[in-house]
Amino acid sequence: MNETCISSPPGKQNGDFRIALYPGTFDPITNGHIDIIERGLQLFDRIIVTVAVNVQKTPLFSLEERCTMIRECFKDTGNRVEIGYTDGLIVNYALKNNARTIIRGLRAISDFDYEFQLALMNRRLERTVETVFLMTAFRWIYISSSNIKNAARCKGNVTGLVPEHVERALKEKFA
Ligand code: COA
Repeated sequence: MNETCISSPPGKQNGDFRIALYPGTFDPITNGHIDIIERGLQLFDRIIVTVAVNVQKTPLFSLEERCTMIRECFKDTGNRVEIGYTDGLIVNYALKNNARTIIRGLRAISDFDYEFQLALMNRRLERTVETVFLMTAFRWIYISSSNIKNAARCKGNVTGLVPEHVERALKEKFA
């Protein structure tokens, strides 16, 4: 199994720190994801943005490219946002990193079924890890990594939907 593991912050006991995991494919990260992370930082001391494997997806960007793009978004937030990855179970990765919460964003009713199943499955796998949902901000409700990739592939304008460096990376991919 391939993964990184983040140690506890120096000078803090594990129990003092509220750490949450925000897992996803992030192919690529969008402004909608960033909005969830920024709002999550109001609730948690640290968020581990975790690039994970969804077996139903074949990502456009490599794991390294996705992690680099995420890192670039949060280079100014000190150690409050960490980037991790795992090709194993999310709940196991959460436990290893002292996180007891998984954050997921909900965009619309259509997300609910899938998210409900994922949360219940994760609960079945590990009862001590809770999932919390944040409503995606209204302005990002219609975007997904896929529709941004689809637009970029056909040379559509995705300015304002993803950070500038992600927009550049999409242009390079589809040049
Ligand atoms: N703004 C914009 N888009 C958003 C969004 C937001 N706030 N929140 C979600 N999305 C979009 C994503 O861009 C993504 O779009 P896409 O389908 O076009 O790629 C989609 O909603 C949902 O993707 P994401 O949040 O990345 O989740 P996912 O379904 O790809 O990831 C994993 C699911 C990786 C978290 C899940 O498969 C997993 O936990 N894997 C690890 C294995 C495991 O533990 N399995 C046990 C549970 S079954």
